[in-house]
Amino acid sequence: MNAKPSNARTPDWDIDSMFTDRWSPRAFLSDPLTEREIQTLFEAARWAPSCFNEQPWLFVYATAPEQRQKLVACLVAKNQLWAGRAPLVLFVLSRRCFQKTGKENRHAPFDAGAAWMALALQARKLGLYAHAMAGFNLDKAYETLGAPRDEFHIMAAIAVGRLGDASELPDDLRAMESPNSRKPHAEVATDVFPVLRAV
Ligand SMILES: Cc1cc2nc3c(=O)[nH]c(=O)nc-3n(C[C@H](O)[C@H](O)[C@H](O)COP(=O)(O)O)c2cc1C
Repeated sequence: MNAKPSNARTPDWDIDSMFTDRWSPRAFLSDPLTEREIQTLFEAARWAPSCFNEQPWLFVYATAPEQRQKLVACLVAKNQLWAGRAPLVLFVLSRRCFQKTGKENRHAPFDAGAAWMALALQARKLGLYAHAMAGFNLDKAYETLGAPRDEFHIMAAIAVGRLGDASELPDDLRAMESPNSRKPHAEVATDVFPVLRAV
């Protein structure tokens, strides 16, 4: 049985459907992505805004089975279970300091987040899905990527691929395999401040 979840998300306000169409499945097909698809994802991310146009993000990716497996091995077991099938696995890094001045860039994680979101939205435009993960072993990731700790944050891992069959997931993951909802609008945007009084 092919159990593809329907997307019943209803926004409170009328927004472009690209925002509600993006969600994070765990059922991926192992079908490979084309080089054009892969580079299109990174191209979308490249145009994200950043503080002083620093573009502090770095995507380290793998598609070839042996290399991909090295990245998958950095994930916690629960994530390996499903992300191990995805044809593209990557890590999002952000540079801790501005390359020009060497000064700390405290906005780099914010900018890397914008770049990841651009990648995720572009994935949907290509009929693909991207699923971010914080569940990975940080020490192992630094070692595997050969990324100097003093230079880079490793922000997240991401699995990308085509939507697979939810019925192939373990029971607990299958139960979560549908687009989720959000906090009420009023809890995330307020015109009342000091904020301590607002939330
Ligand atoms: C930084 C980050 C870390 C996440 N870590 C994990 C993870 O380790 N494992 C997992 O299954 N999902 C992970 N997620 C997915 C979130 O649970 C998901 O984005 C959230 O529930 C909202 O659902 P949606 O992406 O389907 O809209 C992560 C998402 C983000 C942005």
